[in-house]
Amino acid sequence: MNNNSKKHIIELENVHVSLKSNVETVNILKGINLKILKNNSISVIGESGAGKSTLAMTIAGLELISKGKIFFKGLAIHDLEEDELANYRSKNVGIIFQSFNLLPSMTALENVNLPNQISGVLIDDKKGTELLKSVGLKKRLNHYPHQLSGGEQQRVAIARSLISSPEIIIADEPTGNLDKRNSEEVMKLIFKLQSDFASTLILVTHDETIAKQCNKIIKLDNGLIVKDE
Ligand SMILES: Nc1ncnc2c1ncn2[C@@H]1O[C@H](COP(=O)(O)OP(=O)(O)OP(=O)(O)O)[C@@H](O)[C@H]1O
Ligand SMILES: [Mg+2]
Repeated sequence: MNNNSKKHIIELENVHVSLKSNVETVNILKGINLKILKNNSISVIGESGAGKSTLAMTIAGLELISKGKIFFKGLAIHDLEEDELANYRSKNVGIIFQSFNLLPSMTALENVNLPNQISGVLIDDKKGTELLKSVGLKKRLNHYPHQLSGGEQQRVAIARSLISSPEIIIADEPTGNLDKRNSEEVMKLIFKLQSDFASTLILVTHDETIAKQCNKIIKLDNGLIVKDE
């Protein structure tokens, strides 16, 4: 257990991610050192291909690191077995993607409940309904994704990311597929929910105005942090 683990919810020490194909090894993250304070928001910026999504997925426990250490409240994520890692993810991490990733054959409410269904937690329609209300979709509970606008679909995805009351919310370009008005609404909502749920937000974005609304901005270039402010 590390001294600062109470304050820092996430700590990365010299994290490398390398992906091997049969031809070559690609080094994507090349030694990331990062500490994220609990209840804070950090934005991750940088050019396309810099490694932003890879960093986000590493923290989410969806990408395995090839070298270094990663801690969640002092828990060594890099040492976890696959089932323990799945448990870490489902209990502690909510993820919002650029492309919403809703299941087309499920209603809004069923999509919100899906993470619990997958991890075998009892489905609580009341909680799912409350979350959909909190993202302004009280009247859309039984709508299917194709019956919803892009902004509404992303709000369903935001509600879904919160169903397990995760301590960490990871949003990878959550407004990338939305127009200006919907982007602003979705970001307002993400920041509000982060504050209401006292969670920690890791936000990948290309939008400087959005990045500046976070407590801290880190800039990645070619697999390394080049600015941490
Ligand atoms: N599975 C993979 N195999 C090989 N290379 C990969 C793989 N996934 C990502 N990469 C490479 O790793 C680098 C970083 O990718 P990543 O998706 O993290 O970038 P990014 O900063 O999120 O970019 P963008 O802004 O375009 O989303 C890129 O050069 C990409 O081509
Ligand atoms: Mg990306």
